[in-house]
Formats: sequence, C-alpha cells, structure tokens
Amino acid sequence: MKKTLLMGLALTCGLASQAQKQFFKPEKMVETGVYYYPEAWDPAQWDRDFKKMSDMGFEFTHMAEFAWGQMEPTEGQYDFKWLDKAVELAAKHNLKVIMCTPSATPPVWLTRKYPEILVEMQTGQTGQHGTREHYSWSSAKYRELTSKMVEAMAKHFANDKRIWGWQIDNEPSHYGTYDYSPAAQANFRIWLQKKYKTIDNLNKAWGTAFWSAIYSDFSQIEIPNEKRLYSGIASPISVVDFKRFSADECASFVSMQCNVIKANVSKEQFVTSNFMHGHTDVDPWRNKDLDFISYTMYPVAGYTKGVGDQGFRLGDPWRISYANDFFRPLKGVTGVMELQPGQVNWGSYNPQPYPGAVHAWLWNAFAGGLDFICSYRFRQPLFGGEQFHYGMVGTDGVTELNGGQQYNQFMKEIRELRKLYKPNTQMPKEYAARKTALLYNVDNVWETTVQPQTYQWNQITHVTKCYNAVKLLSAPVDIVGEDRDLSSYPVVIAPAYQMVDEALVAKWKKYVENGGNLVLTVRTGLKDRNGHFREAQWANAIVDLIGAKIAMNDMLDNDIKAKVSFNGNTYFWNNWADMLEPMQGTETWATYADQFYAGKASVIHRKLGKGTVTYIGTDTDDGKLEKDVLKKVYELAGISTNEQPEGVMVNWRDGFWIAVNYSSSNVTINIPQDAKIIFGTKELTPAGVVVWK
Ligand code: GAL
Repeated sequence: MKKTLLMGLALTCGLASQAQKQFFKPEKMVETGVYYYPEAWDPAQWDRDFKKMSDMGFEFTHMAEFAWGQMEPTEGQYDFKWLDKAVELAAKHNLKVIMCTPSATPPVWLTRKYPEILVEMQTGQTGQHGTREHYSWSSAKYRELTSKMVEAMAKHFANDKRIWGWQIDNEPSHYGTYDYSPAAQANFRIWLQKKYKTIDNLNKAWGTAFWSAIYSDFSQIEIPNEKRLYSGIASPISVVDFKRFSADECASFVSMQCNVIKANVSKEQFVTSNFMHGHTDVDPWRNKDLDFISYTMYPVAGYTKGVGDQGFRLGDPWRISYANDFFRPLKGVTGVMELQPGQVNWGSYNPQPYPGAVHAWLWNAFAGGLDFICSYRFRQPLFGGEQFHYGMVGTDGVTELNGGQQYNQFMKEIRELRKLYKPNTQMPKEYAARKTALLYNVDNVWETTVQPQTYQWNQITHVTKCYNAVKLLSAPVDIVGEDRDLSSYPVVIAPAYQMVDEALVAKWKKYVENGGNLVLTVRTGLKDRNGHFREAQWANAIVDLIGAKIAMNDMLDNDIKAKVSFNGNTYFWNNWADMLEPMQGTETWATYADQFYAGKASVIHRKLGKGTVTYIGTDTDDGKLEKDVLKKVYELAGISTNEQPEGVMVNWRDGFWIAVNYSSSNVTINIPQDAKIIFGTKELTPAGVVVWK
C-alpha cells in the first residue's frame, strides 16, 4: 500500500480544489480583510475609514450582517442606497466586499408583527428584540421573510463585480440554547416520523420500555427538555435525536438562503457562512451546498490556560490549526472570517493578548492553507454590547491599536512572500508520508454529553488532545467524516468513537488490511448508532479488530493520579481507563501500574494484513501518553516524525514552512542547515514566528 499511497498524495498535493480555482488566486496565497459597520458610523467618515483600511494593507472588507433594520426599515420597503455608497467607497480604495445576509438580527417591526418566529428557550421564555440569533430555524414565516430579504439583496448585487462573495447569517447557532418553540416542536415530530416511519420503531430506538416512556403516537412526543427532565432522562438517545434535528434545521435554513443567493448572483461570487469553531450545537459539515465553510476564531478570552504562565495570553497551541484542519477538508478550501484583533469584551475575563500573539495567529491561520483571513473588526465600537472590544483602530477611529500594527506587519510580510511563490509546489515527501486523518462524527459529541459517565469527560477535549499529539509530531492532518476515502492517509485516528456500526468497522478493517495504521482510543465501539449497547460481550464490535477484549473501565476523581507504565516511563491519568485483555498475537505496549488492576494492559498493538491497529485505552490530562504511543506507531510504520517542544506548531504550505511558538518559554526550532529563513529566526520567543523554505 505504501507505494500507491504516496503516489496518491503526490497527485493531490499540488492541486487546487474547484472552489479555490473559482474564487481565489493561488499566487496571492492569502488575502486579508476586515469587518466594517457603515450603519454605525457617520457617513462622512466612511471614505476616511476605507482609505485607512487600504493603507494598512487590507484587500477586502465585510459588511451588512446585522443591518436588516437599516436595509428593510418597514416591511417590503428596501433601502440599499446607503449600502451602495459604502460598497462604492470600498471599491474606490480597492477593497473587495464580502456581503452578508442579515438574518441573525430581525428588525423590531418583524418580531412585533410575527412573534411566532422567536426561539423558545429551555426555560419556556422566548427570545427578545435587542439580541441576535433569537429567531427559530423552524419558523416557516421567518424562512419566508428571510428569503424575501435575501432575494432582494441578491438581485441588487447580482452581477456586481465589487462583491467578492456572500456570507449567510452570522455564526449560525443559538449560542448555546436550543429552540423549543411550537414550530420546532412540530418540525421535530415530522423529522422523527420521516426517520422512524412507525412509532414502534421509535420506541425501540429510544428504548422507551425504560421508565414507562413508551409512546403510541408521534403526536405525543415533546422535545426532550433537560431542564424539565429533572430526575434523569429515560431515553438519552431522544436528546441526541433532538440535537441531530436542530443541526438539520440550522443547515436547511442556511441552505435555503444559499439557494436564493445562487439562483440570483453571478457564479463568480462565492457563498459561505461563518461557523463558530468548537461549538457543537450545530454541524457545519451538514452544509455541503456552500462553496466552502469558513470559521470564526478567538484564541484568548479567559477560557484557557494554554502552555506555561503566559499561555492565557497566547491561547491553546492547537486551536487555530484544528479549525484549519476541520473546516478545510470539506471543500479543500476555507478562510477565517473573524480573527481576534486584540483584547475582546465577552470572555469571563478579557486579558490583553501577549505582545505579538495576533501576528502569530495570523501566521498559524496562513499555515493551514487558508485563502483569506478577515479581522473582527476595523473600529473599536463607541457604544453597544461590545464596547471594550478592540478593533484595528481605537476609539478615535484613526490610531492603530497593537493588533492593527500586527496585521500591518503580517500583510507586509505576505506581500514579500508572494514574490517567492511558485505554483504547484509539491508537499515534501517526508511530510506527506505523515499525513493523518482524524475521524470525527458530531454524534459522538452529543451522545457522550448526554451520558458522560464521568464529570471529567469532554469529547472535544479528548479529540483536540489527540489532535495536538499528532501536531507535536509535525504531521499534516485532515479532520474528516466517515464518508471520506481513507486510503491516502498512512495513519487514521478515531478518538473515543463510541458509536459505530458494522459497516464502519468493516471499513476500518479493510483500511488496515490494505496497509493503513489505525489508532483507536478509549470508549470506542461501545454503542450502536441508536446509543444502545450490543447484546454481546463489551465493545464486541471492535474486539476482533483490535485483537483484545475490554474487561472493564474505570474513572477517578480529578485530584487522584493513577499510573500507567509505557516504555519504562510513568504517565498519570484520572479521566477514563479501559482495562484490556490482549488475545494471541496482540502486543501489550503499556500497563496500569497501580489500583487493583495493576498489570492489566492499557495500550495494545497488533498487525493485521499489511497494516496495524493500536488501541490507547487510557485518557490522560496532559496527552503525553497519547503522544508517545502515536510516535511509536508512526516510527514502526516507517514514518519519520519531527517532534516539537510543547506549544510549537509547525506546518507547511505552498513551499514554505511556518513554525509558531505558543509556549511561554523561548524555544529553538530544528531547521535544516540548507534551508533559507525568510522571516524570523530559529530561536523563538513566546508568540515568535519563523518562516523558511
Ligand atoms: C463573534 C461574532 C461577532 C462579534 C464577535 C466579537 O463571535 O460573530 O459578531 O460578536 O464575536 O468578538
């Protein structure tokens, strides 16, 4: 398989995807832009502001995603004059425009006249005018009104060359709440009926024999509301179904707008939406009809400690890389629609990012193959709900803030780098040989959230920990769904893949038999797609594949440190551990070193056909065991790795290597003697960047 595999990679690495060819110029590599809200500023300042943007090096701007009230001040009366003026002034300063549909913020006339369009929260209260994303994806009325608004905009800008593309809505989601409105309720029943056909099928799938939860008709079903199910949930999978339904509703609302835009505008204008990275109440991958999906990114807002004592100012090292690798593979192209400009306002606390951090994030975004990067936002607001949020320029509207200066520096560097760009540069062989797929299905997130089994379980934390481990070995990663052909990836990791069916396990087996290296981690294979255990031995679905039985699992409190031994080293864990019983032919790589099961296997490995299967049965807090095991997997498969110090991300794109230091210490990067350093030095300070070829 190795031969065919590398040939496959050589063929694909230099090729631009369809969307890339259509909307972006490869020789530009990345284009940089910034959000602007003309409706919030004195029109007399627009020209000055666009000029400043352009002078700073920006190549595009972004507008209108919250301007429904200004574009349709009364029902059916559209006013695009002010927007035309803004587009004209942007174009005067050579700025392309990403135009946005305003469905995130319905105007007050709309919610007063049609209150049925509002989201109903878990508490039974409805959303109120003055916030955003408070409309129901399920409301037929809202779809109708949105469709009219979007059609008017699309027709207005249909063949306007100044419009680069479209963003639908803004961060589609309800920011953590779900919709329990009558419209959602009605659509949920229809969705269930479509899925299960008969109520008997639903009863079986939902396991309603438990706690007398049985239904005799679809009309009896209410959306499961965890606030009201206060003493436990009879059917956890009913909640998973509701989350699947909600994600489908969001996707179809976005699709509805996508269809309206595409039916009206020139094929040269792209259509995307900007999804929040890491928010799992929606599923961006469901929108395959968009030209590509893009993402929003705020690494520093009081929610992470990062690496070392200044990590809270730098952000998690994996965060931007993970988003790049999650959003890009769907269509082979992505961009970051919002990148943090500096200090923000909405975190639990809002520290200043480390000096140079914005510049480091920009390079990290570039390194993931992105075609554009857009900053949120140009001017710091003087009023409104985000007052303390930095912009590229401060409250006086003209003075560049520290983030603005870092954008400026980045854009100058990119202009220099473009001179060195060579089309169709092949990925270095050694790097391509490490290409890794990380399998992801949001069902596993939802299911383990409903029944986590330990308060310490967080599926995304586990997945990103595995991802970080791979990145520390300097491997390129695609995060992909189950439909993806895996044969071009020498290594495939399926972290905590709790829900599997026979077809998926057969696909994994075939991949391994053909020479692939599969790595599975804790909790994998325990349940079917309905979240049921199988009437068989524990984890029966994967026992043959991994060549081991899983005798039991254990989990501990956060302050206990239990031990695992691997290669003569001790690792600590307390989240989740599977006790493995290897069958003949399966090697034990790591064992538990204490607790009553000391000596039982924690990590096992076997050959199967031309490939290998490894099961990592322990989830550690620091991910060190996972990283060291993965390193051994690559090395045994003859794949060289290039291990980086904790906090360092190394990526390659278009012939250039980019290393970024997210740790709080100085580090020295291994750069080959004959390499040419373009920016920076191999000694990286915190937030340091080095680019070489
Ligand atoms: C994003 C959002 C923007 C703005 C920004 C502030 O999540 O899409 O509209 O609110 O946060 O950081």
